[in-house]
Amino acid sequence: MDTKHLIISQKEGVGRVQLHRPRVLNALNKELVAELADVLDKMDRDDEVRVALITGGPKCFAAGADIDEMAESSAVEMLLEDQFAQWDRIRRFSKPLIAAVSGPALGGGCELAMVCDMILASEKARFGQPEVNLGVMPGAGGTQRLSRAVGKARAMEMVLTGRSMTAREALNAGLINRVVPVELLEEEAMKLAREVASKPPVAVRLAKRSVLKSFDTTVEEGLDYEQKLFYFLFATEDQREGMKAFQEKRKPRFRGK
Ligand code: CAA
Repeated sequence: MDTKHLIISQKEGVGRVQLHRPRVLNALNKELVAELADVLDKMDRDDEVRVALITGGPKCFAAGADIDEMAESSAVEMLLEDQFAQWDRIRRFSKPLIAAVSGPALGGGCELAMVCDMILASEKARFGQPEVNLGVMPGAGGTQRLSRAVGKARAMEMVLTGRSMTAREALNAGLINRVVPVELLEEEAMKLAREVASKPPVAVRLAKRSVLKSFDTTVEEGLDYEQKLFYFLFATEDQREGMKAFQEKRKPRFRGK
């Protein structure tokens, strides 16, 4: 099931994808990003996968877009190739997506972590948008997601100076969920993924959609959207099961229907 640049596995409802271009610190070339979009597409359609986990392993999450691949590109080539179309596919993954970050998550690497719904980091993680040092700027959501996550002041400083944040700083800024020792990162990430995977999949999927909606709508429209999704969940068997199990004082058995 592995691809050229990804190590893929699946257990207990969790689809795990490890970025694997260690020689170049998991630089995100076009092929890798397309593979990732394909794998996530498949996992989105696979009922056995309830949550996906993206990691780069203990040394490096991803050092950004592949600079060697784009160094000689023209504006027209960039436009016609439209590499960000693949990022849009990743962004549309409808199940929970967790990033386990250790080492650098820079440029596109930081942007990939931010596409995820939750980020767990090791003490060795570093987050940054250093594109300005290359004569460009973030292009896969960095200016938009970072400023929403950490606020204008911090985002401006990171984007305009290229300085990165340590894991602790990222935690204090609200960019990530938690910092753990390197040797526990995988275990903690899997634990969180399994916990979410045990919840009713339709409710989880719609709850994710509703939280994301809050970032690009008015509160009024967002509340309306949320209410509709809430009402919709009363059409699921899992709603019946969840509430009945509570009344009968037993554990629910969610089936994703
Ligand atoms: N693209 C291509 N190759 C890269 C790379 C990248 N983004 N990042 C690292 N590499 C390669 C290096 O060229 C080096 O290869 P060689 O051994 O063949 O020389 C190898 O990975 C190891 O890297 P370093 O020797 O630099 O390792 P280091 O530990 O000294 O430094 C680092 C680590 C600070 C992450 C440094 O590699 C670095 O600054 N990388 C570039 C980070 C960056 O600028 N990212 C933004 C890219 S642009 C982008 O992402 C646009 C977007 O929004 C989509």
